[in-house]
Order: sequence, then C-alpha cells, then structure tokens
Amino acid sequence: MNIKSLLSEKVLAAMVAAGLPADTNPAVSQSTKPQFGDYQANGVMGAAKKLKTNPRELATKVVEHLTPALADIADNIELAGPGFINIHLNNDWLASQLAASAADANLGVSQRAEPQTVVVDYSAPNLAKEMHVGHLRSTIIGDAVVRALEFRGDKVIRQNHMGDWGTQFGMLLAHLSDKLAADEVAETALSDLEAFYREAKVRFDDEAGFADRAREYVVKLQGGDAECDKLWQQFIDISIAHSEEIYEKLNVTLTRNDIMGESAYNPDLPKVIDELMAQEIAVEDQGAKVVFIDEMANKDGEPSVFIVQKSGGGYLYATTDLSACRYRSGELNADRIIIFTDARQALHFKQVEIVARKAGFLPEQVAYDHCPFGMMMGDDGKPFKTRTGGTIKLAELLDEAVTRATDLIKEKNPEISDEQLEEVARKVGIGAVKFADLSKNRTSDYIFNWKTMLSFEGATAPYLQYAYSRIQSIFRKAGVDAASLTEPATIESPQEKALALKLLQLEEVLDSVIADCTPNLLCNYLYELASLYMSFYEACPILKEGISEETKTSRLAICASVASTLAKGLDILGIDVMERM
Ligand code: ARG
Repeated sequence: MNIKSLLSEKVLAAMVAAGLPADTNPAVSQSTKPQFGDYQANGVMGAAKKLKTNPRELATKVVEHLTPALADIADNIELAGPGFINIHLNNDWLASQLAASAADANLGVSQRAEPQTVVVDYSAPNLAKEMHVGHLRSTIIGDAVVRALEFRGDKVIRQNHMGDWGTQFGMLLAHLSDKLAADEVAETALSDLEAFYREAKVRFDDEAGFADRAREYVVKLQGGDAECDKLWQQFIDISIAHSEEIYEKLNVTLTRNDIMGESAYNPDLPKVIDELMAQEIAVEDQGAKVVFIDEMANKDGEPSVFIVQKSGGGYLYATTDLSACRYRSGELNADRIIIFTDARQALHFKQVEIVARKAGFLPEQVAYDHCPFGMMMGDDGKPFKTRTGGTIKLAELLDEAVTRATDLIKEKNPEISDEQLEEVARKVGIGAVKFADLSKNRTSDYIFNWKTMLSFEGATAPYLQYAYSRIQSIFRKAGVDAASLTEPATIESPQEKALALKLLQLEEVLDSVIADCTPNLLCNYLYELASLYMSFYEACPILKEGISEETKTSRLAICASVASTLAKGLDILGIDVMERM
C-alpha cells in the first residue's frame, strides 16, 4: 500500500480531466499539519503558473473531478489558499487498507514491478588491522539499505571491498614468516592483529634490513610468488575471521561470499591503464600515469589531478576503483552502484566516477552513488578514541555495549533469569549502538554517548524494543493470539486514525530510505509510530473493565499491526525484538 502513489494517480487523472497535460506533477505529499488534512496536492500552483491562469479557479475544477474519484477514500477534500488541495482520508477506507496489510506477509509493502540490480559496497575493512569504529557506520548503514532494497524486491549484490592488498602487507608478511619460522602458529601470532601490526611497524622503522625484506615481500606478492601467496592467504583468512565475528555480533548479513577485495582486481589493473592510455584519457606525467580532470578544476582553472599509476609502476586505490566500476556494470550488470564510506573519500569517488564514465567503464544509465557519512565523535566533540588516544576496537565497543545493557536490564528487572538476561542484554546493547548511529542524519558527525543510546525514553532502540514487548505482554494478558485477529479493526478515535495512517506509510518511508540511502528516516518513522502507539494506548483502553468484546478485538488488531511493523522496521535496521524484556 502506497497512499501517496495512489493519490498522485487520482489527482493527476483529475488534473487531466480539468484540461492539464498528462505530464503535470500533482505534487502530492504527506501533510505537515493536521489542519492541512492527511495528504496535500500542491501541483495546481505550478501548472497554473505555466498556463498563466488563475490557480484557485483551476484547483476548483480539479477538485470537482477529484471528489467523485476519491468517494470511498476521502471524506473531505478542501481547497485552501491560492490553490492547495487538502485531502482528509476516510476512517473506514483506512481500516480496510490496514486489514489488507495485516493479512499480507510483506505488511502491504508491494514488491517492485521492475526490480533493479543494485550493487552495494559497504563495510570494507582493511585487513592489515582489526576492524575499528570507523568501519561501524559503513557496515550498519550499508546493511540497513541492503535489507530495505531486498524487502522492496530489488536484487542486491553485496560487495565487501576489503582492503587486502597494498604495500603494508610486505611488512606484515615478513614479520609473519619470521614468527612461523620460530614455530608459532599463524592463529596465535595473529590473534591480536593490532598488536601484530604494531610489532611489524616497529621492526620496519627500527630494525636494520627489515624494511628491505618487507619491500621484497611486496614485489614477491605482486609477482605471484607461491610461498608468499600462501602466507598472504593465511593472513587474510585470519583477519577475515575477525571481521566475521564482528558481523555476527552486529547482526549484519555479510558473508564470505560477499567479499570482493582489492586483490581481486589486481589482474585487471594493467588493462585499465592500457585503456585509459589508448583513449588518451590518462597521460604520462613525471613518470606516473595521470588523468587531468578539467571538470573539477580549481578556481585558477587548474584541473584536478588523479594519479592512476605511480612512477614505479605501482597501482593505487584509485586504479582498483576504476576496475571495480567496469566489473560492477559489465559483469554484475548493475543498474545502480552504492558505496558507503566516510566523507573524506568524497573527492576520490567523484574523480573515479568522472574518469570511469569517460572511459566507458560506467555507462550513463548506471547510477553511481557514493554515500558519505560523518564521523563518530567522543563526548569531547573530538574523533572517538580511547583515553590514551588509540583507535577503539569495534569488538571491544560492542562487548561494552552488552555489559552496560546487562547492568541496566538487571536493575530494571531483578527477577530475570540468566538465560533471558543474556539474550535481552545482547539485543538491547547491540540494538542501542546501531540505532543511535542509524538514527543520525547520515552526513553529519555525531557524538557517541552511552547514556542517551541506552535510555528507555526518546528515539532509542530500548524504547522501541520495549514498545514491542509491551504489546506482546498485552496479548499474553488477553490470552489472544495475534494471528487469530483477522477481522478489520474499526478506526474511530483520532489516535486510532493517526496510528492507522502511520502504519500504512511504511512503503513510502522505505522508498525514501532507498532513494537517498538514509536509514535515519526509517528510525524516525519507527519512533513516531511507537509514540503514536503510546498515545493510542493512553486514550483507547484495551483490557479495561467495561470495554466491549468488539472494541477489545478491534484495538488488539491495531496492536498486532503496530507490533509487526515495529518488528519488521527494526529487522530492516538489523535490530532484534524480544517477547519479554
Ligand atoms: N577499505 C576502504 C577504507 O577502509 C573502504 C573501501 C570502500 N570501497 C571502495 N570501493 N573503495 O577506507
């Protein structure tokens, strides 16, 4: 169910009947204030301006055609101001739509008629080190967008563009080879990747001869030396396993099959350069191969410089991303490519897109959306770091979230069994971290704060999870199974109407989430839904004495829809709900 599309269709038809062209934009949107109705159509103003006619007269004509067309849907269609059309939806119609959505496994969210193939590049940690908080945002925002796309029926191809290649592997492999020679097993040597990296770096900086050996390893690795390749494979296997542990903790859908690391593009890189040279897009400049991008010239008219091959012959992050463009559009047949990284890479992806389009690696019809995000900040407003200024390991942060949630839940519910506590604390702790992040405007920096994210008030995971559990407890008290409620609810009070309307807007919000890669809109939606539910619960008693059986069943049906929408919405965000908490 998509009320906005339905009304857009109807308003457009009325506009055409009133003499307007078929490509007129009806400009239907959800109303911002109750006095403007539930939806408003503002398209008449623009159309009247184009035709140089009086908007109010034109709107009157449109309303004349619209009124019979919305006979079952709206009970009031008003003309306001210079030509706004305010639509007040009918309670019975809302009730029947709500019942249809409740009976549908997808909660009334329709499946895309023409599914797109969407390649989503997210998470992409660098395997030389352990995953740190910087990769949290990419991982969870990307995963929420992926789940929203899939729920709408698009075909998603996940691409975990892991940083598994590059010169720092020379130093790591040289160090690993020494450890193995000293009879250590790789698993133990690499159990703390961060420490391993530090050791290797110290040797690289201080130990005579080690840096040269590290460089030899780079050459050997790039040359496909078998022994070196084996070491590298061992290293990245263990590092990938570290990431997988995090994915599991985070309830993220990425698997090993989704990995398409930088190394995978290695064989293609010489071809990328050859083509750029043959098409005279890249040129030699001081031994390097470079693209001068005039489209991105600075204010003095100097083009932006994009290096695609270093003077020593080495390839760069940029070269890999050009190759990835070609692979994703050519081999994976992407209609759209979405990449999630922090905002500092915005320039890079702009350059990649311009060059890839010029070279024909990225056909015009393929959308290329780099979705940048802001940084996670500490309470002091500075980039989030440990007290001593080190990077915060993601694994440790998530463990702390669960510990804090354990204390919180125990305090709220001292009777809780250990087993249940374990489950609830995990879901609440991880959910809180994810929701706090996902609910922020994607492009801004945000302050990471344990207290607010674990609060049971305000837009937080615990608040929404609690709303869900409370509904489950109502069902237990009523002794009713939600699935048995097949009769449509009656929508009478303003609270019921507001709630029904919100429930029917899930598809609209998901479409915005998908269009702009903004899970925060879904977070807002769920928070508004839960808040409307609380008002409904206050105003419309369910199990109180004196409530008729009919009213009770109707209100329980509304509760059931709220519960399934909360659960589905949170599931799209990768957050679990629980029956009790
Ligand atoms: N590994 C990179 C980083 O940690 C992110 C990769 C994003 N994807 C891409 N196609 N470049 O910053």
